[in-house]
Amino acid sequence: MAFIDEVYARAKADKKTIVLPESMDKRTFEAAEKILKEGIANLIIIGTPEEIAENSKGYDISGATIVDPFNDPNKQKYIDKFVELRSKKGVTPEMAKEQMEKDYMYYACLMCKCGDADGAVSGACHSTGNTIRPALQLLKTKPGISSVSGFFLMEVPNCELGENGLFVFADCAVNTDLDSAKLAEIAGLSAESFRMLTGAEPKVAMLSYSSKGSAKHDDVTKVAEAVKIAKEKFPDLALDGELQLDAALVPSVGASKAPGSPVAGHANTLVFPSLEAGNIGYKLVQRLAKAGAYGPVLQGLSLPVNDLSRGCFAEDIVGVVAITAVQAQGR
Ligand code: ACO
Repeated sequence: MAFIDEVYARAKADKKTIVLPESMDKRTFEAAEKILKEGIANLIIIGTPEEIAENSKGYDISGATIVDPFNDPNKQKYIDKFVELRSKKGVTPEMAKEQMEKDYMYYACLMCKCGDADGAVSGACHSTGNTIRPALQLLKTKPGISSVSGFFLMEVPNCELGENGLFVFADCAVNTDLDSAKLAEIAGLSAESFRMLTGAEPKVAMLSYSSKGSAKHDDVTKVAEAVKIAKEKFPDLALDGELQLDAALVPSVGASKAPGSPVAGHANTLVFPSLEAGNIGYKLVQRLAKAGAYGPVLQGLSLPVNDLSRGCFAEDIVGVVAITAVQAQGR
């Protein structure tokens, strides 16, 4: 069974409620029809009657709950929660109301925070920054986690490397200022994400342009230091570095560049040294190897909220909703 079909089956087995705030985009409704028809999740769609009528034409979304952000009996509860969470940042009830009406992602995050939804998916027509900022502000990180990061579950066709072509790549979406401590934290979160989504044991490679000291530079030292921190924090995790990509993935190269490593040549969870490397890396594999790229899935948030690429198809929204539902089951 393909990876995503297994995720659909898991989502259907214990249905969660996912909120979709992008009623201004037709792809939301195309995806919603499929999600509802196949029983992947219960859906809440945020939008005015005009937005819903205009953009849902031709799609059967009769099973969804529609919430009009201008006329919702629960709205005051969400305004109160917004103010409770952000009054220290100067947010007043008027500002909260205006922000929720202007940007439905705030509304969606407040629904999750108040327990009226299990997760949210947005980003088909909003940038990553605008999609995740409300979640960072309102939902915050899980206890003990300093930074939210974003991974892609990559499914490479006809590939024996990794877990038969399945990989987690991180951070591909969020942190522009990765230091050793953040890289180590991302290694632990990515390992958990890999295990949760694939059921297989993670083997984490901390990537660089150097393998085990073959090059000397501050960039290399940053990753080597991250490896040291991660090994101390997660002593039971199969993790190694710093490794070049070929040493991480290809058994013969791993054996020659990092002999004795528990990970080299067999890595399935790749931690990139910078956002540039991670973002470019996942797009290279997606485009040149025609790999499935599910995400960016956020890890480290207190509740499951996920982003989409603005170039996504309705099918991608269905996949990310299913992944979000499975994350919600794991809470
Ligand atoms: N983890 C947890 N909290 C965070 C993080 C993080 N990684 N980053 C910011 N925050 C918190 C801040 O502490 C702050 O909280 P506060 O308001 O309670 O004090 C809040 O989020 C807002 O932080 P700012 O720094 O003011 O927000 P800003 O919008 O500047 O930055 C953002 C956050 C949006 C994540 C930014 O880092 C960013 O734009 N990253 C790059 C996103 C991107 O463009 N990715 C590439 C494209 S993705 C793709 O191709 C699929």
